[in-house]
Amino acid sequence: MSDCKLKVALQKSGKLSEGSFELLNKCSFKLRPSKNHYLIETKELNSSFLLIRDDDIPGFVDSEVSDIGIVGENGVFEYILDNPKHNLEVITKLGFAHCRLSIAVPQDGQIKSIQDLHGKTIATSYPASLRDFLAKHNVQAKILVMHGSVELAPKIAIADAICDLVSTGATLKENKLVELEVIFESEAVIIGNKNCSAEVKEKINELIFRLQSVIEAKDSKYIMLHIDKSQVGKLQEILPGCESPTVLYLHGSEDKVAVHVVSKEGIFWDTISKLKSIGATSILVLPIEKMMS
Ligand code: PRP
Ligand code: ZN
Repeated sequence: MSDCKLKVALQKSGKLSEGSFELLNKCSFKLRPSKNHYLIETKELNSSFLLIRDDDIPGFVDSEVSDIGIVGENGVFEYILDNPKHNLEVITKLGFAHCRLSIAVPQDGQIKSIQDLHGKTIATSYPASLRDFLAKHNVQAKILVMHGSVELAPKIAIADAICDLVSTGATLKENKLVELEVIFESEAVIIGNKNCSAEVKEKINELIFRLQSVIEAKDSKYIMLHIDKSQVGKLQEILPGCESPTVLYLHGSEDKVAVHVVSKEGIFWDTISKLKSIGATSILVLPIEKMMS
C-alpha cells in the first residue's frame, strides 16, 4: 500500500465525536482527544485526524482539506442543499449517533399542524433543510438562524417553533417542547470526495474494511454450549442468524455434543431461558472483537 497520508475530519466534541473515537479506537487507532488538540497524527494507516465543529466537516471534505470525515447524515443533507455542485459522496453508514431533525413547538401552544406554522418564526441551525421542507409543504414561515441554544428560542419569545436535532428527546422535554414533524432521520456516516486520488481511495477502503469488521462484530456473539444431538435443529430456531453451527462430539458421550455458533442478533436473557428449555448446559456467551468476512 502507498504511504500517502490519510486526512480525516472528526467532530471535536459532542455526540458524534464520542462515537467516532470509540469506533476508531476499536480499530487500534489509540486516539486520545484533549482540550487543546486540534490535530492528532498517528502511524496507524499513516493518518491524521483534524478535530473541528461537525458543521464544518462537509465543507472540509468537499474542498479536499480532509480526505474523509465522520459526520451526521443530516449535516451532509444541509450542505448539499446549499452547495448543489458539491463533490461529496456518502461512503458508508456507521450505525451510531441515530437522531432526527424535527420541528418542535411549545407543549401547550396553538401550533398543532404543519399548516399552523404559516406566518410564524422558526429557529434553527439547519436553515437549508428547513427551507426545503417548508417549500415542499407550501408553508411560508420566517427562519431564524441560530448556531446554538436553539431550544431556548420559544421560551425567550424570539421564535414560535424550532427545528433541531432530537436524540433522546430530553432537551425538548426540559424546554417544554413537543415534536410536530420529523424532517430527516439521521445517523453517523463517512463522507469522502468523489475526486480523491487512487492512492487515497486505497487507504479509505482499508479504513472502511477495519471499521466494518468492528461494526459487524458489535451485535454478534460467539456462543458455546452443550446439548443433546437431537436438539441441534431447534437451536437454529432459537438463535437467529446462526446458519451453520460447528458441532463437536464430546469425549465419552454418545448423544451430547458441543455447539459453537456466531449469532448476529442480540442475545438476551429470554434467549438463554429458551436454550435451557431444550436442555442446553455449559452455556458461554462471548463478545466478538472483529468480524472479517
Ligand atoms: C443536539 C441538539 C440538541 C440535543 C438533542 O446537540 O442540538 O441540543 O443534541 O439531544 P437529546 O434529544 O438527546 O436531548 P449536539 O449534542 O449534537 O450538540 P451541537 O448542537 O452543539 O452540535
Ligand atoms: Zn453541531
